[in-house]
Amino acid sequence: MRYTFGTSEKAADRLKQIGAFFNPVASALIKRFFHGPAGIALDLGCGPGFTTHMLEQSTLCRRIYGFDLSDDFLKLARKRFPTYHFFKHDVTVVPFPVRADIIYARFLLSHLKNAVSTVDNWAGELNNGGILFVEEVEDIFTDVGVFKDYLHANCGLIDSQGAELFIGKTLGKAAYKNYVMHNESVLLPVLNRQAADWFYPNTITIWESEDFIRNTLTPSKRKKISAELKKIMTGKNHKSDITWKMRRVVIRKET
Ligand SMILES: C[S@@+](CC[C@H](N)C(=O)[O-])C[C@H]1O[C@@H](n2cnc3c(N)ncnc32)[C@H](O)[C@@H]1O
Repeated sequence: MRYTFGTSEKAADRLKQIGAFFNPVASALIKRFFHGPAGIALDLGCGPGFTTHMLEQSTLCRRIYGFDLSDDFLKLARKRFPTYHFFKHDVTVVPFPVRADIIYARFLLSHLKNAVSTVDNWAGELNNGGILFVEEVEDIFTDVGVFKDYLHANCGLIDSQGAELFIGKTLGKAAYKNYVMHNESVLLPVLNRQAADWFYPNTITIWESEDFIRNTLTPSKRKKISAELKKIMTGKNHKSDITWKMRRVVIRKET
């Protein structure tokens, strides 16, 4: 399955901004359950490498790997982090080329089918006693009309590709084959202008080419959403009327 939100430099910049917010939260989670250093750590769906860097810093691992399907993102990741090991590998295919002590995945299962069995497969790729960290969106709460419109369109788009944007809901309720150390959601309020900054790029890039979006939103509606997001993004307002609910599942492979 191709990555819904594109693999251009703009898409990489967007992931950098998103990482600046979510990486400290992820790092705190990892350090809570893993007291390093690790041998091998592996970032699944590593994109341009911002989560890979966070994982390396959080685990102090001896060797760090990132897997992704996008040649564009892998190229950017290798350029930015030349000492890391980035492989082109479909994360739905096991066995992986390496076994790891720590595996991390964020914002990836929302783009894949069969999320729960995929998590079980990933845990199976750990060394005995190794830990898998998964972080996905469970919901996004907001009363801001333009945010609701944007999210509604993207939920539909991802749904049309056979996946689920708010896959965290399913992950939170599932039973897993290995030992679940932690299964909890966390609420993260985000500034409106920051959320708009994450949303806006998609409205001027992939929204222009995706048939689902073109068939469900008229050009004038798309323009209106885009213009409103841009206005919020460039405003000086410090309001926060949008909250991410993130599901975090931590699984240990039993020895
Ligand atoms: C939302 S991005 C997340 C990137 C990174 N984890 C972060 O949070 O910055 C999802 C990434 O998963 C990759 N991806 C999607 N499906 C994949 C698959 N089947 N195998 C490997 N990578 C995949 C995409 O190319 C994209 O880089």
